[in-house]
Amino acid sequence: MKIAVFCSGRGTNLQAIIEAVKCGEIKAEIALVISDNRDAYALVRAKEAGIETLVIEPKDFPTRKDFEKEIIKHLERKKIDLICLAGFMRMLSPDFVQRYRNRILNIHPALLPSFKGTQGVKDALEYGVKITGPTVHFVDEKVDHGPIILQAAVEVRDDDTEETLAERIHQEEHRIYPQAIKLFVEGRLKIEGRRVKILNETNNK
Ligand code: GAR
Repeated sequence: MKIAVFCSGRGTNLQAIIEAVKCGEIKAEIALVISDNRDAYALVRAKEAGIETLVIEPKDFPTRKDFEKEIIKHLERKKIDLICLAGFMRMLSPDFVQRYRNRILNIHPALLPSFKGTQGVKDALEYGVKITGPTVHFVDEKVDHGPIILQAAVEVRDDDTEETLAERIHQEEHRIYPQAIKLFVEGRLKIEGRRVKILNETNNK
């Protein structure tokens, strides 16, 4: 199975996925890393791991359709089976989602459906929740909305800042994102409406 990872920033989740592939936990190949930001540190991580990287920036295209057409061209060239959004701060169009239906995963730094959007950690902290944590889910046409695969609980401490809380959420992200990808690669995720069932390792039931 061939995976493409889409990133916009630091790429610590990409790094966790790279490690999980390297140690054989995920039996798949990361065939492509795409960034919509040429300064993303994720690109350095990918290159160090010997993975092909592409910078595809929306500003270089007249419309979102053209931007996504360029992405699709490369996904097809590399025969990508699964797309993992890892800190990719951009909405994909309904057409794109349709084309890769149930083959796009995303990680979000809050317990969905709470605190959607680009500031999931800050919003949860400011709201005053006592428990937050990351969500891995399938991507559908709406923002941070598709069926949920895995979540992890992270306690909010009285003295937390956005940075300290984000750090502990990241640790959980780096655990559950590779785990969710492994389940996908092994064909163990069964979507039933909004619910995702995790099939048994041995009999896939
Ligand atoms: C992660 O915390 C991820 O949950 C978040 O961006 C961060 C990327 O970190 N994604 C979103 O907020 C998407 N709405 P990374 O670049 O170090 O993997």
